[in-house]
Amino acid sequence: MLNGKRILLIIGGGVAAYKALELARRLMERGATVKGILTSGGQEFITPLSVASLTNNECYTDLFSLKDEAEMGHIRLSREADLIVIAPATADLMAKMAGGIANDLASTVLLATDKPVMVAPAMNAQMWDHPATKRNIETLKSDGIHFVAPGSGMLACGEIGAGRLAEVPDMVEAIEEFFHGNIQPLTGKHAVVTAGPTHEPIDPVRYIANRSSGKQGFAVAGALAALGAKVTLVAGPVTEETPPGVNRVDVETALQMKAAVDDALPADVAVCVAAVADWRVENDVGQKLKKTKDGLPDFQLTENPDILAGLCSRTDNRPTLVIGFAAETENIVEYATVKRTRKGCDLIVANDVSATTGIMGGADNEVHIISEFGDEAWPKLSKTEVASRLALKIADILESK
Ligand code: C5P
Repeated sequence: MLNGKRILLIIGGGVAAYKALELARRLMERGATVKGILTSGGQEFITPLSVASLTNNECYTDLFSLKDEAEMGHIRLSREADLIVIAPATADLMAKMAGGIANDLASTVLLATDKPVMVAPAMNAQMWDHPATKRNIETLKSDGIHFVAPGSGMLACGEIGAGRLAEVPDMVEAIEEFFHGNIQPLTGKHAVVTAGPTHEPIDPVRYIANRSSGKQGFAVAGALAALGAKVTLVAGPVTEETPPGVNRVDVETALQMKAAVDDALPADVAVCVAAVADWRVENDVGQKLKKTKDGLPDFQLTENPDILAGLCSRTDNRPTLVIGFAAETENIVEYATVKRTRKGCDLIVANDVSATTGIMGGADNEVHIISEFGDEAWPKLSKTEVASRLALKIADILESK
């Protein structure tokens, strides 16, 4: 968390400037206050109004603005922050910093400040590889400037290589690490996470499925690994990338998911995020079902095992903490509270998945954490942020057990 931290966000010119808006939101969700400085290059990509609206603060753009100087002043602006973050940082801005040039608001603030500075560069791959940029980065590092390294991949200019602005969660993590150090409270703990849908075959070409994307479960696995846990992620058929440091086991059906979870035990915590199909087809149809004049195909459904309830009621190897998710479309808290008791789990993370919320398959989630102590409502957050908070909560609970 970044409660009470004041971050001055300098947004340079680059296609990735839009990511700075997302970064500001994520930092604020974690309790930080964010003030923006938008360079003239940055203003070619996003507007001061969008920065001001998203940060609930003034956005500063001009060194020689009478209004800004009267209200704030560039020296005060540079001092009233706990950390200055530059994202995206252009080759030009880094060159100015390395050379001590102060000819606009951003570079003047950076020369005037006595506060720590973190730079997230973004530029074309050739520019990134240029000896001048490399020299400047070395100079800045020896000046004590912190860096969030850019990623590789397809760049806005169409070239492939290094120079893409770091992803928002990586920048948030670097900022949190800067303030709190690299705390890994789950080191030595094993977590099992289920994620995604299951596919239950009807015949060799058809199956029963659901709309689960796996995003939330994958984010939970990633957040637990980021806190140092050894993570086994049992994943149904999804297209999500495996988070760093996570051991992934791919399955298709509920029966396979249950077997993989049982195989992964013992574990300190199990988080069942998967949308497991409630039913599977009982009679094994070896061949593709044909349309016939005699009516509808003849197959029976049978109930799948409840993996979560099974884990909770184990007499051996029950994880210390078992957490379920409850996707509801009405009476969320009430239904989830009943579900927690019925399944015997320690926590239920309940959310509203009715079509209008866009949660199923979307990037955000709004959840209630139901425990024996009642209901804790969290605000609407990205699925990554829900996962980070949940991972911290898991670490707290395991520590107190
Ligand atoms: O009963 P319902 O499907 O709403 O319960 C949701 C919770 O139970 C989720 O945590 C889900 O992963 C888990 N579950 C399970 N096995 C099933 C059905 C649900 O682990 N067969």
